[in-house]
Amino acid sequence: MLENDIQEILFTEEQLKNRVKEIARQITADYAGKEIMFIGILRGSFVFMADLCRGVELPCTLDFMSVSSYGSGTTSSGQIQIIKDLSEDITGRHVIVVEDILDSGNTLHYLLNILEHRHPASVRLCALLDKPERRVKPVELHYSGFTIPDAFVVGYGLDYSEKYRNLPYIGILKPQVYGA
Ligand code: IMP
Ligand code: MG
Repeated sequence: MLENDIQEILFTEEQLKNRVKEIARQITADYAGKEIMFIGILRGSFVFMADLCRGVELPCTLDFMSVSSYGSGTTSSGQIQIIKDLSEDITGRHVIVVEDILDSGNTLHYLLNILEHRHPASVRLCALLDKPERRVKPVELHYSGFTIPDAFVVGYGLDYSEKYRNLPYIGILKPQVYGA
């Protein structure tokens, strides 16, 4: 059972649902009269993105990007590689980048810089989780779901070794699962 690998539940399905609805309401208010282009960073953002966009009561389009960061072991580096680029042109669009978690900031620092150079009308970042203690690169986070301590979490799209993404809640993984 997947649950046996979870040490502690941080956010229940209900808490996630409520917080995501709040962020969606905020975005709806902030972008009144505009059309939004949501860009989901694969794969971790797919569950959050699906719930978030359904709470936004404005016209919007969706696109996805997949990136991998170079680096040794479990830490990302300053360089990222685009594995799958956007299908749409973002010139003149109001872009909201949707990410599962902002950790060191390496990936998003680099990615947001790439997107800015494509001349969108605006770019904002929306991340479900924020681990500020781990930040190495500065990244401006406009919409943040929850601030969490420095622990490895899974569920609601977030994985360990590509698993646990389907858990409906977010929990801290037992360290023995990843051999700590
Ligand atoms: P960074 O901000 O460049 O260090 O990398 C952020 C990425 O690392 C996120 O998009 C996640 O895929 C992954 N990540 C960071 N912390 C966690 C975690 O606690 N659980 C699962 N994935 C994580
Ligand atoms: Mg990710």
